[in-house]
Amino acid sequence: MEKILVEKSPPLKGTVRISGAKNAALPILAATLLGTEDIVLEDVPNLKDVQLMCEVLESLGSKVEYLEDNVLKINSSNINSYETKYELMSKMRASFLVMGPLLARLGKTKNSMPGGCAIGSRPIDLHLKGFKALGAEISVDHGDIGAYADKLVGDIIYLDFPSVGATENIMMAATMAEGETVIDNAAMEPEIVDLSNFLNKLGADIKGAGTSTIKIKGVKKLGGAHHQIIPDRIEAGTFMVAAAISGGNVLVDNVINSHLKPVIAKLREAGCTVEEGEDSIRVIANNNLKAIDIKTLPYPGFPTDMQAQFMALMTILEGTSSVMETVFENRFMHVEELRKMGAQIRIEGRSAIIQGVDEIKGAKAEASDLRAGAALVLAGLVADGTTEIGNIYHIDRGYDGIEEKFSNLGAIIYRKTF
Ligand code: EPU
Repeated sequence: MEKILVEKSPPLKGTVRISGAKNAALPILAATLLGTEDIVLEDVPNLKDVQLMCEVLESLGSKVEYLEDNVLKINSSNINSYETKYELMSKMRASFLVMGPLLARLGKTKNSMPGGCAIGSRPIDLHLKGFKALGAEISVDHGDIGAYADKLVGDIIYLDFPSVGATENIMMAATMAEGETVIDNAAMEPEIVDLSNFLNKLGADIKGAGTSTIKIKGVKKLGGAHHQIIPDRIEAGTFMVAAAISGGNVLVDNVINSHLKPVIAKLREAGCTVEEGEDSIRVIANNNLKAIDIKTLPYPGFPTDMQAQFMALMTILEGTSSVMETVFENRFMHVEELRKMGAQIRIEGRSAIIQGVDEIKGAKAEASDLRAGAALVLAGLVADGTTEIGNIYHIDRGYDGIEEKFSNLGAIIYRKTF
């Protein structure tokens, strides 16, 4: 069994280059199923989830090859299956994103219920509501979900919640539907915009991505494209918090600053100096950082994917901080692990109240999900002694070269097989 060990580290210093965004790469990889010519993707992060998605594509008949590190060439001209295997689907929720493209391309798709992080029940009703509105028949049988349609026809679809995955899946399903599809109360995350830009390069006609109304005019066929994945705002935010928690001075390079507004604002509120360059952000931690409050919301609000990392920071901020999680119903699994390290955290419903302490201590802790794992790495940087993190496959699902990137900034972090 592999673990990541983190020792109390000096203040982090230096520059870290941010990789391509996991949550943009995954839907874009799924969308390659729509293209009938060669597709080249640059800045694809080297992650377990990306490998899994590539396996899903190959199992459906796509040809996937690495041209060089982080550059993938994919050809889906000969898709020969409409069903994804349980072994693959059960490992990652995002594999469900192949449903929309397969439905559009083949008129049918069958998948088992998706797996993923343990952060709540995470239903898929909104995805299915969208497929139905486009004219698909949905079947649920022994945990398999099928969607079938002789032809898809555009419609107006209102999402009860601006779900990222549902917006993406419906957008992809609608690319070749007859007429116009309108998604109202659509998610506005930057990853939706990246997917829309990619689909338009393939020949789709999508307008409004990044706003709450997305309009998709169906086209006959999609071709090939060359596309560069946007930088990962959550990886960037994680290193920004690393600078803050360690009392360091870190330049986070290859970012789109506007994607990080809430993270920048909250670090400034805590008392950090945040200097914005053209496509880089420097975070300088000053002495006596103060307690802050955060509330997670869909974009452009504070991202739920940064909640655990900020909670790690709050454990040592002077005063009482609070976190309100409104996006996922059960995303406080890291609280118990941070408590093992001496953090003072109380949960009240969807809120956590964090009383800053002078010192936390290394402990044996488990990464319950990807961002919880990142939070433990951050806490480990300032905890006395060694923090031993188990279940690290979660971390490998979403952080490209995590030990190397942290080590380059002066952190004492390594992987050990037990
Ligand atoms: N929801 C429904 N019905 C649905 C779909 C979602 O009720 O049909 C609910 C969920 O249960 C949840 C909320 O809506 O409470 C938000 O879910 P959403 O669909 O927006 O999330 P997702 O598409 O499953 C993506 C990211 C997550 C990120 C969320 C929110 C990918 C591959 N995953 O998930 O990323 O937390 O959006 O921003 O894009 C991570 O990277 O660590 C991660 C979990």
